[in-house]
Amino acid sequence: MTSRFGRPTAGLFVVCLLLACAQRAHGDGVYVSAYFGEPVAGLDDEVRSSFDRGQSLFVRRWDQSSTAMRNAESCVSCHSVPMPGGSGMSEQALVPTALGETVQRRAPEGHVAEVGPDGVVTRRTPPLFGIGLLEYSRRNNSQKIFGAFAEIDSLEKFVARAFAIELGISSELSCSRSAQNQDYPKSCTPILSRRELEDVVTFVRFLAAPPNRNQTSAIGSKLFSQIGCSSCHVEYRVTSAEAPPALRNKRFAPFTDLQLHDLGGSTARLRTAPLWGLNSYGPPYLHDGSGNSIEDAIAHHGGEAKPARHNFSLLEESDKIELIAFLKSL
Ligand code: HEC
Ligand code: HEC
Repeated sequence: MTSRFGRPTAGLFVVCLLLACAQRAHGDGVYVSAYFGEPVAGLDDEVRSSFDRGQSLFVRRWDQSSTAMRNAESCVSCHSVPMPGGSGMSEQALVPTALGETVQRRAPEGHVAEVGPDGVVTRRTPPLFGIGLLEYSRRNNSQKIFGAFAEIDSLEKFVARAFAIELGISSELSCSRSAQNQDYPKSCTPILSRRELEDVVTFVRFLAAPPNRNQTSAIGSKLFSQIGCSSCHVEYRVTSAEAPPALRNKRFAPFTDLQLHDLGGSTARLRTAPLWGLNSYGPPYLHDGSGNSIEDAIAHHGGEAKPARHNFSLLEESDKIELIAFLKSL
C-alpha cells in the first residue's frame, strides 16, 4: 500500500511532525495550540473518540418537534466564533439571559429577550476554548467558576443546563420546561442520553486553549502589570496533579484569577474574564456585551477596578497603543 507520501510510514512521520508543531511549548514553558477548535495534545484513543462524537453533537441541529422552550437549535448557533466552541458575533453573541431565576420570556417562540426586574437582560456568549484547563486549575475545590457570575460548580452541570435551557433538550441531570412561567421540572424523560451528555462534556473540556500567543509588546506587557490590570487578570495558572492525564500539571496563561469582583455596575459581582484569544472572539466584550472595543471594555471597569481604569486613562497615547497591542496578542 502506498500513500501520497510514498510509503505509509513516511505519511505517519509527517502526521507526527504536524502534531508536534500543533502543540508547541513557548520559551516560558506554556503550552499552546496552533488551531482554534482542536483538542489538547495527548488524548488517548477513547477520549479522542468521545471528543469527536461530542463535537458532532455540539454542531448538531436538534429536533424541533418538542414543545420545550428554547433559545436556539444548536450549541453552535451561539458558540461559533471563530470556530465551534467559540463566542458569537453581533446578534448571535448576545442572547437572552436563560440562567437567571426571576426572568419572564417575552416571545412565545423563545427567540428573543427575556425580561428581568431591570428590563431586558442580555448575555454575551463566551468562548469555551481552554475551559478544561480552568476547570482543573489549582484552586479551592468548593469554588464555583462557571458562568459570568460563577454560579455553577461543574462543567457537566453547565452543559446539561445548556441543553435543557438553551436547546430545550432534557437529560438525566437537567429538565427543560414547556411554558414561560414554569419552574424547571425536577424530573423528566431524558432525550439526551448519559453518553451523549458525557461526549459533549468531553468535547468542551478538552478544547485546547486559544492559539494566539505571539506577545509582541514587551512594553504593553509591563504596563499591564504596572497599572494594576494583573491584580485580577493574573497571567499564569497551573492545573492540578489529579487532572485527567492530558490536562495534568500544565502551566497556562488565561489572565484570570477566577475570582468574583465588584466592577461597580448594577449586577452582582463578576468573575474575572480570561483574556486569552481576546482579539479572535470579540467585540462585543463583557458579560452583557456592552464593550464595543477593548478600550470600551476597559472604560466599563468601575468598582474595585476603578484605580486601574484611572491609571489607563492617564497613559500617554503611545502607551495605550502598546497595551492594546499586547491585549490583542494574547
Ligand atoms: C442561545 C445561545 C447559547 C446556546 C445555544 C448555548 N450557549 Fe453556552 N453560553 C451562552 C451564554 C450567554 C453563556 C454565558 C452564561 C453566563 O454568563 O452565565 C454560555 C456559557 C456556556 C458555558 C460556561 C462558560 C464559562 O466560561 O463558564 C458552557 C460550558 C457552555 N455555555 C456550553 C454550551 C453547550 C454545551 C451548549 C449546547 C448544549 C451551549 N452552551 C449552547 C449562550 C449559549
Ligand atoms: C478588580 C479586578 C479587575 C481589574 C483590576 C481589571 N479587570 Fe478587567 N475584568 C474584570 C472582570 C470581573 C471582568 C468581567 C466583566 C464582565 O464580564 O462584564 C473583566 C473583563 C475585562 C475585559 C473583557 C474580556 C471579555 O472577554 O469580555 C477586558 C478586555 C479587560 N477586563 C481588561 C482589563 C485591563 C486592560 C485592565 C487594567 C486597566 C483590567 N481589565 C483590570 C476584573 C478586573
